[in-house]
Order: sequence, then C-alpha cells, then structure tokens
Amino acid sequence: MELLDYCRSLPKVELHAHLNGSLSDATVLKLLSAKKQQGDDFSASAEHTHTHTHTHTHTHTLRMFRILHSITDNLDAVRTITQDVIQEFASDNVKYLELRTTPKNIPNKMTKKEYMDTVLEAAVEAMKKSNIRVCLLLSIDRARGVEDAWSTLQLAKEYLTHDVFGSLVCGLDVSGNPHSGDLKDYLPVLQEAQKCGFKLAVHLAEVSSNTETLAVLNSGLVDRIGHGTFIHSDTGGSEELHTVVRKQNLPLELCFSSNIKLGTVKNASHHHLGFWKKENHPVVICTDDKGVFATSLSEEFFLCAQTFHLTEGELHSLCLSGVDAAFLSQVEKQRLRQEVQKELDSLKGKLACQ
Ligand code: IMP
Ligand code: ZN
Repeated sequence: MELLDYCRSLPKVELHAHLNGSLSDATVLKLLSAKKQQGDDFSASAEHTHTHTHTHTHTHTLRMFRILHSITDNLDAVRTITQDVIQEFASDNVKYLELRTTPKNIPNKMTKKEYMDTVLEAAVEAMKKSNIRVCLLLSIDRARGVEDAWSTLQLAKEYLTHDVFGSLVCGLDVSGNPHSGDLKDYLPVLQEAQKCGFKLAVHLAEVSSNTETLAVLNSGLVDRIGHGTFIHSDTGGSEELHTVVRKQNLPLELCFSSNIKLGTVKNASHHHLGFWKKENHPVVICTDDKGVFATSLSEEFFLCAQTFHLTEGELHSLCLSGVDAAFLSQVEKQRLRQEVQKELDSLKGKLACQ
C-alpha cells in the first residue's frame, strides 16, 4: 500500500478538533445555500471569501471563524454541522473522536444550553449511523472573559447527571485567540472544573508566552496540551517549561498543518513533532480545524510520516498513543485499544517501502 492509502486505512483517534473549524466545503456550501434561500444577502460575500481565499494569517483565520459562525447561528445548522463532521471523521477511519466546541448564546436564536443540547443530540444520532465513538469537550474561549467561562462550566456541570449526555461530555477545552486575555485569570474556573471530575485540554504555548504557560502548568490542572509549540528552548520556550512537561508526562496534541499554515512553525521539518519524538514523549496527531486548513486526519498522518520518515511501527504507535491520551475510563480505553490493535495487526507489513 502507498503511504497515503496506508494512512487512510489506519484506525485513528482524533483528540483535537474544533466543531466549527472542521466544516467541509460541501457542508459550508449547503449552509450558504440555505441562508440564500432565506434571503440573507450576506451569504454571497461569505461564499466568495470561503471559496476564493487560501491564506492563513491569524487575522484571516479569525475572519474565517466569523464567517463560519455567521452561517451556523441557528439550531438547524448546528445539527447539520455536527452530523456532517462526525460522518466525515468516521469515513476517514477515525474510531474515536473528541470533538470540542464553544457553547454559544445568540439572542433570539439559541441559548448556550440549546446549542449544546443540539450538538449532543446530533452526536448521538451520528453514532447510530457510523462505527465511531464520540465525546464532547465544552470549549472556554479565552477571548470571552472569565464570567463566560464560569457559565460554560455551569452548563457542563448540568450534564454530569444527564442519563444520555452524561457519558458524552468528558471534559473542557481552553482555546480562542492566543493573543487575547491571560490564561492565569481562568485558573479558578479550571480548578473547579477539575474538582467536578472534568478532564482539561488546554491550548498552551501556541504562541510564545512563557510566563503564562509556566503558571498554568504549575497549577497541575492540565491533562493534555494543545499545540505546545513554544515549550522547548530550541523554539523560544525554556528549559524550565520543558522540564515541567516532561515531569508531568503531559501528552501533546500536535496539529501539523495548522501550525505551518498559521506560521507558528517555520516549515514542516522544523515542526516540534521531531523534537518530542526524539524524546519519546507522548504525542497525538490531530487536525485542529480540518475545514479551515483543508486537511483530514489521514493527511496529517501522511505529512508527518513523510517529513519525519516514520516507520510502520511508529505510525502504529501514534494511533495507540491517541488511545492512551483519550479522556475515557480505563474500561472504555481498554475496549478501544483492542479494536484499534486488531486493525493495526491486520495492516502489519502492508506499507510499501518508502
Ligand atoms: P467552535 O468552538 O466550534 O465555534 O470552533 C471554532 C472556535 O475554536 C474558534 O472560534 C476558536 O475559539 C477555537 N479555535 C479553533 N482553532 C483554534 C486554534 O488554532 N487556536 C485557538 N483556538 C482555536
Ligand atoms: Zn485548536
């Protein structure tokens, strides 16, 4: 099997995917056409921007999110995107998906609870149709302030005792524009979240921010790091940060295309996957925003394999490290590990020499 086909066949685990950033062109066009039918004249310019721009500066990406959010501002659209995104990951042979999204309150359209209920209902429906297990992380947007974070935590707590959704909500994510706000201000919220039993995935050191990153890591609240680009000293982090991450053995969610397209990593061969792989540190390959960065989890595996000359064994280990880092109970992890291992065994020896 050629490398890309092989990556498509791998039984994969996706741990870092933002719902609204994961929309395929097909889904976006479907939603734009629905908006047009409702006589929304904004859609024409949105369509133009979506189909005709391929640059990925931070400013452009923020603009992209504004457009994406404007076409997903109603519960029908939220249901559609959740089902489409889950279906697309399942078609890419993703066995387990942790999908994250920011609950949104849009006056006269939806409350945060309605938004999240709709995502969860759609996830339950999508799981019935495909062989994929999905969990949800509620995202705290660091640009929206601490009050908003408390209300998101309050909503997450309401699901703890829910008979169906209780087992689907597995944690919280902290994301949003890394240049906005200070993560230290959010530590009391994260402390309370941990007390309630939520696992925490935090976007950390996505841009150079040593003081903030060290304070958050020293809180001992983080279960997984998103990006972690500026941690080791070779890339503007520090020995101290590197030591803390090593000591806590925190898995890193690595988003290759996202980092390269946004320019936080100079080029493919400079990606920090190379550094952490040498250290044998737990890393998981993820997409971040497969729609915005025009990628898939298989393509991310392919790019990493090509850049770092990964062997078949190393690709298999990467699939299994996704299982190890999942926010699942030990029993569920064991079940997932068996399923993934079985498919990996059937692929052994099938990768053509690179
Ligand atoms: P949503 O939470 O489903 O609306 O997904 C889009 C949101 O995810 C964006 O508005 C950001 O808050 C967040 N996001 C997506 N990609 C990134 C990233 O690379 N860094 C930080 N936040 C991100
Ligand atoms: Zn992200």
